[in-house]
Amino acid sequence: MSFLFFTGKRPAGQQKIAGQQKARREADEEEDMEKKEQLYEGKAKKVYSTDEQELLIVEYKDDATAFNGQKRGTIAGKGAINNRMSNLLMQLLEKEGVPTHFVRELNERQTLVKRVEIVPLEVIIRNIAAGSFAKRYGVSEGLIFDEPTIEFSYKNDELGDPLINSYHARALKLASAEEIERIKELAFAINEKLREIWAGCGVTLVDFKLEFGRLHDGSIVLADEISPDTCRLWDSASGEKLDKDRFRRDLGGVEDAYREVMKRLREHI
Ligand SMILES: Nc1ncnc2c1ncn2[C@@H]1O[C@H](COP(=O)(O)OP(=O)(O)OP(=O)(O)O)[C@@H](O)[C@H]1O
Ligand SMILES: [Mg+2]
Repeated sequence: MSFLFFTGKRPAGQQKIAGQQKARREADEEEDMEKKEQLYEGKAKKVYSTDEQELLIVEYKDDATAFNGQKRGTIAGKGAINNRMSNLLMQLLEKEGVPTHFVRELNERQTLVKRVEIVPLEVIIRNIAAGSFAKRYGVSEGLIFDEPTIEFSYKNDELGDPLINSYHARALKLASAEEIERIKELAFAINEKLREIWAGCGVTLVDFKLEFGRLHDGSIVLADEISPDTCRLWDSASGEKLDKDRFRRDLGGVEDAYREVMKRLREHI
């Protein structure tokens, strides 16, 4: 008997055919992943169903809003940047053992994700005082904390996403005690990893908002997006703001800031 059969290698001709079959299979999968029904249009993204019940397509828009939708505008090229950045960061987090909804980037603005039931909490991690924290507690923006903080907002547009504590979240049955513990654990772990990544880009991660969701087996995964829309990112040397605060506060150079952080991340990884 020839040992050839046991090498696991195929003759060159067969390898080529296998490669072509794989390429065709992948092309078919791409084609299969067409947008079906639009399920939701938010301020920054649209969400579509697909042929597969457990998979959704998110499409990133250039629309920008702030202060619960009171301020509106567009940031040219934002959708493509946020899509790519969120996907890169989620893939890096997955490597560190953080489960996410990311499946595959389909094109510049669209990504295939696992469908989750969003836990209606905005999870905010802060390393440095800024924004609503600085205002609420009357401290200067830039106060560096000894350790990161976590807070939750109830995701409810009509109520203006009010601040909520974990007891209230449980009373309102937004999440179980175990889910809240898991979310906290994941959020702090994500902070450590993201801080390290951004530090390598010469960027300080000031604070950020995360959303988590339940897969159909009940497990918690990171969902939604991680982008300059949802993070405060300051240049480590100059302190210059490189995120949506440029839009919120009419600082100008919004597009340039989004492009700059994307470029640094791409060069770093
Ligand atoms: N994997 C997922 N499965 C289901 N829904 C998701 C997933 N990832 C994100 N979402 C939800 O999709 C929507 C994305 O749209 P967008 O970010 O534009 O919403 P928004 O305007 O911020 O409003 P809101 O988050 O209050 O609904 C959000 O409601 C988000 O919670
Ligand atoms: Mg959003």
